[in-house]
Amino acid sequence: MMLVEGLRGLAQRYPALIALLAQLAATVLLAVIVLLANYIADWRFAWLTAGLLQGLIAACIGRWLGLSRWWWWLNLAFVPALLAFGGAPLPSWVFLLVFLTLLLLNWNSFGERVPLYLTGAQGTQLLTDILVQQPEPLRFIDLGCGPAGPLLALARQFPEGRFVGVETAPLSYLLALLRSLFQHNCSIRYQSLWRTDLAGFNVVYCFLSPAPMLALWQKACAEMQPGSLFVSNTFAVPDVPADRQLDLHDWRDSSLLLWRIPG
Ligand SMILES: C[S@@+](CC[C@H](N)C(=O)[O-])C[C@H]1O[C@@H](n2cnc3c(N)ncnc32)[C@H](O)[C@@H]1O
Repeated sequence: MMLVEGLRGLAQRYPALIALLAQLAATVLLAVIVLLANYIADWRFAWLTAGLLQGLIAACIGRWLGLSRWWWWLNLAFVPALLAFGGAPLPSWVFLLVFLTLLLLNWNSFGERVPLYLTGAQGTQLLTDILVQQPEPLRFIDLGCGPAGPLLALARQFPEGRFVGVETAPLSYLLALLRSLFQHNCSIRYQSLWRTDLAGFNVVYCFLSPAPMLALWQKACAEMQPGSLFVSNTFAVPDVPADRQLDLHDWRDSSLLLWRIPG
């Protein structure tokens, strides 16, 4: 159980590593299944069936280990796609395109040690419940907004509030920008969260990784008004207990951690 907990922790920081592990474990399991089926029932799998089964097992293991939903689809499709297109003369630019897409989405995995994973529906609902209780006017920022799903959902729910997302992964930024074009109270900036002045915001939200939390908390304390709200999805500030913790009851067992900025 300790091992699984450790791997789940790693899934937040190094999802590609956990995905690789899920693929390897699924391949081993599939080999056992194929051997047993052959031995007991003299049953042979077609290549593509075996590939689909491997993909399904890998996707389930990855999810169990805490990978987000879009990794489910990647894990599911990886080996079947290799088998389906292995013999096909796929132009090399397709592989380059896939690689570049992943790179441009996960740009901050390397420098900032923050990959892309998304706040789910429960998280967004809980944020809505929190914002309802905040004094108006709402000035909300998502530090590292990704493709801005939760940010836009909140902006729609609170048309009187002002919602800002900052993002430096190029493809996530572009997606967020395009999606926000018709949401009048939401704006997206291509800007590092470290270069963003937090003084104008009364709710700061982040879903990052353990790496930046202490420095980010210090920045929030230095810039935000006393009494305003700092919310982190999942990741705690070392040695600063949260004022409130709201469990999400999701498959990751994650929670929203809330701090009031001290005076
Ligand atoms: C885990 S995702 C969270 C996405 C979104 N906030 C959500 O909850 O669905 C973290 C995002 O932070 C971005 N990020 C990491 N470091 C950043 C930085 N220094 N400045 C701006 N964005 C950053 C990453 O590119 C990634 O898209």
